[in-house]
Amino acid sequence: MFRHKGRHVTERCGPVWVAGETYEPYVGRWSRLVAHRFVRWMGAAPGGSWRDIGCGTGAVMQAVLDVAAPETVVGVDPSAGYVAYARRNTADQRAGFVLADAVNLPFADSTASVAVSGLVLNFVSDAPRAAAEMARVVRPGGLVGVYVWDYGEGGMEAIRAFWDAASALDPDAQYLDEAVRFPLCGRAPLRELLVGSGLEDVEADEISVATRFSDFDDYWQPFLGGQGPAPAYVASLPEERRAELRERLRSALPRAADGSIPLRARAWTVRGRRGGSGGRSRRRAGSRAQGRSTGR
Ligand SMILES: C[S@@+](CC[C@H](N)C(=O)[O-])C[C@H]1O[C@@H](n2cnc3c(N)ncnc32)[C@H](O)[C@@H]1O
Repeated sequence: MFRHKGRHVTERCGPVWVAGETYEPYVGRWSRLVAHRFVRWMGAAPGGSWRDIGCGTGAVMQAVLDVAAPETVVGVDPSAGYVAYARRNTADQRAGFVLADAVNLPFADSTASVAVSGLVLNFVSDAPRAAAEMARVVRPGGLVGVYVWDYGEGGMEAIRAFWDAASALDPDAQYLDEAVRFPLCGRAPLRELLVGSGLEDVEADEISVATRFSDFDDYWQPFLGGQGPAPAYVASLPEERRAELRERLRSALPRAADGSIPLRARAWTVRGRRGGSGGRSRRRAGSRAQGRSTGR
């Protein structure tokens, strides 16, 4: 997708997923807000065995435990650091974890009721294969659901503002902008991903949440933690350029009267059903899963 220069820059600043403590204030806290709405939107029957692919620090798993009454939920992630964080902070005997890659799930065919994944598939080297793996491990009639950030205008505004400021100061930053790097992160491509993995009744939607930062430090400090593409880019900058970026963002971000920074984040969501059982696993139309999940 990139010319040589773009590839060089993205490799230098590739995302790292190591420290759960610093991921949580960066994106984990906002993914948790989306995850609760997303799990309800999945509309799965209560109970069942769930898989959370790319579970990270446990945002989606916790939502499954909170709202879906699962019998079990197994989180899968290659990051030992994130899984350790999730294990420490998910005190529930129904929860388990496996260190593994989304493109090669360590589960037998047709053994789960629901497979979900939040903010992961755009980071996976072969997203179609990961989606096919999710479809493979659910039973006939089982559900697969995915969400990713909308990195464009009006989407995940905290990260959008970051790349707008970074690109204004540094031409190389355009190669790292997640809106450019991740064409999967749109309603239609996400829908196509699940259709392409053979799922039926595929529906795409969106979930929008408020992401209010108490002050500028609350916004900026998480970018210093090195987790994900934007923090990895910040870590690659010399001190004076980091300060320049920080001050540009300080003046660009909107402020409420109390000094807080009122932003929003939109995730694209998609769900589908594995054929073969008449679709009994998902609640009928008219359930609480229906309709746009935006609600300001
Ligand atoms: C943005 S975080 C999302 C974590 C969590 N699902 C959430 O919503 O907060 C991306 C996660 O994807 C994981 N990941 C990256 N590549 C992966 C792969 N090939 N297979 C599975 N997980 C992967 C990372 O380790 C990280 O935990």
